[in-house]
Amino acid sequence: MKELEEKIIQADSLETLEKVRVELFGKKGILSAQFAKMKDVPGPEKKAFAEGLNKNKAALQASFDAHYEVLKAEEIERLLKAEAIDVSLYGTIAHKGALHPVMETMDKIIDYFVALNFAVESGPMVEDDFHNFEALNLPKYHPARDMQDTFYFKDGGLLRTHTSPVQIRTMLERKPPIRMIAPGTVFRRDYDLTHTPMFHQVEGLVVDEKGRVSFANLKSILTDFLQYMFGEVEVRFRPSFFPFTEPSAEVDISCIFCEGKGCRVCSHTGWLEVLGCGIVDPNVFKSVGYEDVSGYAFGLGVERFAMLMHKIPDLRSLFEGDIRLLEQFR
Ligand code: PHE
Repeated sequence: MKELEEKIIQADSLETLEKVRVELFGKKGILSAQFAKMKDVPGPEKKAFAEGLNKNKAALQASFDAHYEVLKAEEIERLLKAEAIDVSLYGTIAHKGALHPVMETMDKIIDYFVALNFAVESGPMVEDDFHNFEALNLPKYHPARDMQDTFYFKDGGLLRTHTSPVQIRTMLERKPPIRMIAPGTVFRRDYDLTHTPMFHQVEGLVVDEKGRVSFANLKSILTDFLQYMFGEVEVRFRPSFFPFTEPSAEVDISCIFCEGKGCRVCSHTGWLEVLGCGIVDPNVFKSVGYEDVSGYAFGLGVERFAMLMHKIPDLRSLFEGDIRLLEQFR
C-alpha cells in the first residue's frame, strides 16, 4: 500500500502520472489483480477482505486525485509562462505606401479641370527650340529666354523648361476649339530653397472663336480654382510679362500663413505668387496657323502648390526621398 502511494507521489508529470494510473487502476492493473484474489479467499473472510481492498482503493484514488490537481496546476503555470505575451513589445509594422505629395497635388489640380471638361494632354520632355521657344513668341536671342535657364543637348535639343510647348503641339495637331491642360515634368538650371532642376507644371489653354474667350473668363476660372485649392483666400491679378501672352498677369493669393497680415513666407507683403497667365499672344496663333481665334493660357508650378498646401519649408526636401518626410503624407 505504501509503495503504491509512493508511485503516485513520485510521478513528476501528468504523463508519468497517467502511466501510474494504468498500472494501478487499469483493467490489468495491480488493484484488479488484488480483487481477482477474492475468489481464493474463504467465504467468511470475503467481506473483510473486500472492505480492506475497497478502503485501500479509495485512499489511493484520493491521493491520485490530489496529486493530479497539483501536477495540473503546475502544468498550467508552465504553459502560462511559456505562452506569455509581452504587450510592451512592438508588433510587426506593415508599411503602407502613399502618393508623393507632388503627385497628390497634381491629381487634385487635374481633378478640378477635368470636371470642367478640360482634356489632359502631354508632350515629350526632350523638346526642340521651335516648340519650347520659337513658336511661343520667343525668337532666338530674345532676352526673355534668360527667364528660363535651359539644359541644352549637343545636337540643339533641350529639356523643356515649361509645359507650354504642349500648347503648341496640341494646336498643331487639332483644330479649335481647344480646352486642355498639360501636367508634366519640366527642367531648369536652378537649385535653392524654392527651386529644383526638375519640377512639375500644369499648363492650361483655352482657344475658341474670336471674341468668345476673355480675360474675365480667365480671371473667374482661376479665382475659383485657387479657392478650391487653398480655401477662402483672396486672389489678386498683377500685370506681368510673358512672351506668349498679352496682356499677361501673375496671380497672387492672400498669404495662407499670416492671412495677409505679412510674415516671412510672404516677405511681409501679405501675398503669395502662385500662377502665371494671360491672353494668348497673336504671334503664338500665327506660328500654329490659327486664324480668327482668341484664347487664354496659364501655367503653375505643382511643387509650389504642394509646399504651400503642406507648409513644407524647403522644396528640395520633396526630392531627397527621405522616408521620414514621405511618411508624414500617408
Ligand atoms: N510657361 C510659363 C512659365 O513657365 C507660365 C505661363 C504659362 C504663363 C502660360 C502664362 C501662360 O513661367
